[in-house]
Amino acid sequence: MKFSILALLPALISGATAAPKPAGTLAKRDAPKVYLAGDSTMAKNGGGAGTGTEGWGQYLAYSLDIEVINDAIGGRSARSFTNEGRFQAIIDVVEPGDFVVIEFGHNDGGSLSTTDNGRTDCFGDGEETCISPTTGETVYTFVFYEVEAGKALQAKGANVIMSSQTPDNPWETGTFVYEPTRFVGYAKTAADAIGASYVDHGQYVADRFEALGATAVDAFYPNDHTHTSPEGADVVSAAFVKSVLCANDGLAAHVKNATSSVPGSCV
Ligand SMILES: *[C@@H]1O[C@H](CO)[C@@H](O)[C@H](O)[C@H]1NC(C)=O
Repeated sequence: MKFSILALLPALISGATAAPKPAGTLAKRDAPKVYLAGDSTMAKNGGGAGTGTEGWGQYLAYSLDIEVINDAIGGRSARSFTNEGRFQAIIDVVEPGDFVVIEFGHNDGGSLSTTDNGRTDCFGDGEETCISPTTGETVYTFVFYEVEAGKALQAKGANVIMSSQTPDNPWETGTFVYEPTRFVGYAKTAADAIGASYVDHGQYVADRFEALGATAVDAFYPNDHTHTSPEGADVVSAAFVKSVLCANDGLAAHVKNATSSVPGSCV
């Protein structure tokens, strides 16, 4: 999908200029909800990534005492989730005390030098901008898109959790290798910029996968090195739960499971 800069601007501006209301004036609903913003690795049916795949967001509800709304969608980046109005759709419905988990990175890489797939972010971790060689659109950084969405969500009274992307199969070569992408660090940069929570989901998944070993983990990847089976998604979800419990984030109060009962160690 292509979007002109004119189509993009109102969404960015409304997010950027929404006046934050004092938290005390916002009435919380009885039970908060959890909204998930992400890509195929989080999405229902693996975002259509292929038969036998599932996204981890489909498993999170089993560990929580509150409702999870999985708005993740395959193929999206922080940029395209923004440009398609998908953050705005969550901003529109979120209520004070709700939680929003934002996890991107798998589709954010690439170069804008000669082509533009509509997903690639401008390189950098701040206010850098690029011009799309395809549409002429001004393209912002991963951090910019996550910060703009996070600020608008916080202005509605939501608790924003920036989560680092999941690793591709770290056993792919037969030897365990986990090298976080730059988007892992960028997610923390975005969280720190707006005082949001940060969980290093990628590291928790990597640690679990290292402990489970090559045979078990290879079986979690039926089609490629990115998209997990339902069994793999359940483990990836548990790693997220562990990261939330270890961070003692506000969401931790809604986790049914004791920290010690969830496999793995706090990072
Ligand atoms: C937490 O407990 C529920 C059962 O109450 C279970 O379905 C879920 O998988 C557990 N989550 C984790 C992360 O162990």
